[in-house]
Amino acid sequence: MAALSVALDLTEGQRAGHALHTAYLALKLADRIGLPQETGRAVLYTALLKDAGCSSNAAAVTRIFGINDQELKARQSVAGRSMLAMAYLSIRSLPNEPLPLQLRRLIVLALSGTRERRAVEELRCERGADIARKIGCSDEVAQAIMDLHEHWDGRGLPRGLRGDAIPLLSRIVTISAGLDIFASVRGPAVARQVVRERSGSWYDPDLTAPLLELCDGGLLDELASPSLKEYVFSADGDRAIAFSDDAHIDRIASAFADIVDAKSPWTGRHSQRVAAIAEGLARRLGLSGDRLRHVRIGALLHDLGKLGVPNTILDKTEPLAPEEWAVIKRHPQLSREILRQIELFAAVAEIAACHHERLDGKGYFRGLSAESLGLSARVVAVADVFEAMTSERPYRPAMTEERALAIMRKSSGDHLAAEVIAALSDVDSLAA
Ligand SMILES: [Fe+2]
Ligand SMILES: [Fe+2]
Repeated sequence: MAALSVALDLTEGQRAGHALHTAYLALKLADRIGLPQETGRAVLYTALLKDAGCSSNAAAVTRIFGINDQELKARQSVAGRSMLAMAYLSIRSLPNEPLPLQLRRLIVLALSGTRERRAVEELRCERGADIARKIGCSDEVAQAIMDLHEHWDGRGLPRGLRGDAIPLLSRIVTISAGLDIFASVRGPAVARQVVRERSGSWYDPDLTAPLLELCDGGLLDELASPSLKEYVFSADGDRAIAFSDDAHIDRIASAFADIVDAKSPWTGRHSQRVAAIAEGLARRLGLSGDRLRHVRIGALLHDLGKLGVPNTILDKTEPLAPEEWAVIKRHPQLSREILRQIELFAAVAEIAACHHERLDGKGYFRGLSAESLGLSARVVAVADVFEAMTSERPYRPAMTEERALAIMRKSSGDHLAAEVIAALSDVDSLAA
């Protein structure tokens, strides 16, 4: 879960480790104000999953503000919350846009900005809470995630809750996340200053004092400690064991596939469908046990690295510029880097890493040759291409299954494995 939360940091434009740092600060704060130890687990999961809904509003952020979603989110988290601040960010991010277009954007923002922002936040918060429930978190955690963007003075979003009406768990995690973001971007002194300034407006004043006292005692230096992870996970107690059973890992992988799919309106249920097709193909080709399971999880998480690709590129309808292609081509590598941090997922990381490789060595990101591409990787690559061809994309309509199969057969041997394509027929029963 912690390794996968790195993927969420990427989507939010935060540096990797932000969720883990937030969890650490929040746990320390909860302890300082005397919350019982049992609360630790809820604090931990709220912090790790705090951005689980973030991918669902990435496309909307790009549409409304016209800029790269990650950049806006990263800057927004260190800027003010007024529409003026938002407009300034939007315009500063597009310095080359002609003045009339900038003005039009400003007017649109002024007219519909608040309403749109509320809708965008609502979507994000609800999705985050849904995902937490799907993974098996308590209602308390789901509710806390729902209310993470509320502010103490009632000027937060989406519900405008005020004071004690905001769950304590949300208040703890919000102030901790804010402290970590400012500390990493502007340094510890500014971070403390911001927490002080926002006391009573964004943040619960009863939490700012104990948090600042902890900072006086060196809390922010502890973020660099090698034992940080250990401390954070001790809050999970015996659950770490329960969480490592197969069924639970499958649920977590499936929830993260939903997060990836939610990022762009064009990917619909891509990861879930690729997984269903890949699993059916793998069965037909005789895979079973762990190998079959790894194919399914690898397929679910193959595009995890897309969380690090801005929607300005993902949703683009015009042809991509070479530098934009370069960004797209990094996503299998990112998927691999994230998955490799999970010990159990070594095989899964390789399968995900290879989904854009080709048998003729012309694929990306490593240009591997046929000998290096095992059956599991070949299965996921075929399922990925087939699913993509039979779905609508920003630049073309969906293809029929027959046409997609005919094209894939033609390229078999160079691009995709012939033995896998041969097993790809009667897809409905395959993915059933
Ligand atoms: Fe991909
Ligand atoms: Fe894909």
